[in-house]
Amino acid sequence: MTTLFSDKNIVPVTELEQSAFCQTEGNLRTKTLEEEFNSGVRWQKIPTRYLKLTPEEIDEGIKFARAEIGSKALILGHHYQRDDVFKYSDVSGDSYKLSKIASENNDAKWIIFCGVHFMAETADILTSADQNIILPNLAAGCSMADMAKFVDVRNSWSQIENVLGGKSSIIPITYMNSSADIKSLCGENGGIVCTSSNALKAYEWAFEKSEKILFLPDQHLGRNTAKAFGIKDSEIVVWDPYRKNGGLSSVEIINSKVILWKGHCSVHTRFSVQQINHVRKNNPNTKIIVHPECTNEVVEAADINGSTELILDTVIKSPAGSSWAIGTEINMVNRLAKDNPDKDIFCLDSVVCPCATMYRIHPAYLLWVLEGIMAGVAINRIKVDDHKKYNANIALERMLALGGYRA
Ligand code: 13P
Ligand code: SF4
Repeated sequence: MTTLFSDKNIVPVTELEQSAFCQTEGNLRTKTLEEEFNSGVRWQKIPTRYLKLTPEEIDEGIKFARAEIGSKALILGHHYQRDDVFKYSDVSGDSYKLSKIASENNDAKWIIFCGVHFMAETADILTSADQNIILPNLAAGCSMADMAKFVDVRNSWSQIENVLGGKSSIIPITYMNSSADIKSLCGENGGIVCTSSNALKAYEWAFEKSEKILFLPDQHLGRNTAKAFGIKDSEIVVWDPYRKNGGLSSVEIINSKVILWKGHCSVHTRFSVQQINHVRKNNPNTKIIVHPECTNEVVEAADINGSTELILDTVIKSPAGSSWAIGTEINMVNRLAKDNPDKDIFCLDSVVCPCATMYRIHPAYLLWVLEGIMAGVAINRIKVDDHKKYNANIALERMLALGGYRA
């Protein structure tokens, strides 16, 4: 007999692959695609002639294509991209900033998103139908986003509504790191999207209208934001999609203020209080700054927590001679260290462990899609269907109206 719910968590493949590029010594160095294909993760198939290209050949090809295509293309680069890809971005930013730039751009016929799948979907929702959003490698997903499957979210939403039976109002908030279906479900049900740079504003927005929030898919950002908003631990519950009624009693659901989806980021949950204690003991002058996708105990033990842009801003504006241990993605930490030689900047985790999905944007894939554009072919175009787009856009526009970290 098959049952709808099981106590066994189904781990996304992207989560199992997350440690593929981790290393205890040495620096991250881009190898030929052929060599990187041995890392044990899934890669999108690509014509074989790209496999053996040297960094110099790729660089020459990208520069040539970029010059030929000119302003018809815009390359967006997320801060977690490897340097060998990031250096080609026309604009860099966190997911809020890049989605805003995409929404304001009407000129580029081709927007190449060097980031992950949910970011490219978001750009497609926010741009016009004649703009093509390209993700260089379709295997660049996000293990956190994969932890919230649409059917599970839709079933869970119905179960929660059944339990509440109209006795209590609830608004869904989804973190940007989720599929377009889930953004659409939020838009359709009075909800909103947020990023780490406006999660608190999204809570304020939602609690003006409702008594409860369902926060998807990152329980840690959801919990850290709830606590910053002043919600008590006893009013926060975790919804496990693999258990009936999320593993919660009706009383727990009715008495809660925040229901957190049981998802997490495998990169940010690597950071621990032990690592913080180690830094405090060995480098007492070092300040510790972490991303709110870290667990609440890590956020509470750190000196500062905040979004990607807040981390960048805080570290860049700190005086020369400052020392920072940073709890976020290693490519961004390494870049900050390289660009700020007057400061002592290092990653809180001594193991070099990049986001394995972001890392799948290898420069050879960027060259492949650029050469496609030169030939008039939209390789890896990301296209969200119109119905989903309509409702997801409602939830995204609500987010953009809130502003981001600086607004
Ligand atoms: P930002 O919203 O800070 O860009 O973060 C995206 C992300 O994937 C964090 O893990
Ligand atoms: Fe997803 Fe975490 Fe990678 Fe961000 S860092 S893309 S949340 S797996």
